[in-house]
Amino acid sequence: MRCFYTVTDFQNPTGASYSLERRKGLTALAERYNFWILEDAPYSALRYSGDPLPSLQSLLPERVIHFGSFSKIIAPALRMGWISAPREVIKVVEKLKQAADLHSSGYDQQLVLSFLQSGALEPHLEQIRSAYGERLEAMATALTRNLSDSLHFTKPRGGMFIWATLTSNESTLELFRAAVAEGVAFVPGEAFYVNGESDNSMRLNFSNSSSAMIEEGVRRLATLINDSSRRETTASALAY
Ligand SMILES: Cc1ncc(COP(=O)(O)O)c(C=O)c1O
Repeated sequence: MRCFYTVTDFQNPTGASYSLERRKGLTALAERYNFWILEDAPYSALRYSGDPLPSLQSLLPERVIHFGSFSKIIAPALRMGWISAPREVIKVVEKLKQAADLHSSGYDQQLVLSFLQSGALEPHLEQIRSAYGERLEAMATALTRNLSDSLHFTKPRGGMFIWATLTSNESTLELFRAAVAEGVAFVPGEAFYVNGESDNSMRLNFSNSSSAMIEEGVRRLATLINDSSRRETTASALAY
């Protein structure tokens, strides 16, 4: 069985999404060359602007296995999700899941079920979309105001991350050490590559901090990026 794995909406780490043309093109290829698509969609419900685009599954239900996650829309510690796929696929997945760990925690599944049945999900989603959307705006504005000469980024329309790349070729790993000493964390870009390429990039999370903290965090980051002598002093202080 040949498969194509993809994250269509607000990808981790880049925040990028497939256009409608790309979605249609990919599903047409799957039909033509007879392969399955694994559509990993943990961020799809977290859209803050622009019109929703159809899932690959809605375009080609018989060839797409669609994954969702409650971790991103109810609570991160749940680490529980769902699969939507043709019945013959679900039967095999059930066996594989049993072989792997018997089943996910029954208690956690009951909690999620009660939450869904109570009708609380939709209002909760509205609340987090509004809060995360404001935080995304706060981060994009702060990055543009403080760092437009030193890094570039594309503002995503949803998800949890901004992917930013320094205009210099400096490694963000060194910057990371200095930033942590200043109370600011991000994921250095090389963590997302097998061979550590793109080491002047970084993944910045905006969903988990208030707008005020984001503004302060970006201000501290900008001080370190724009003043390399300060960066070296902070990083070496941390080493001792
Ligand atoms: C693209 C993608 N798929 C799956 C996951 C895992 O989801 P879960 O929290 O349900 O384990 C993540 C992030 O944690 C992710 O970014």
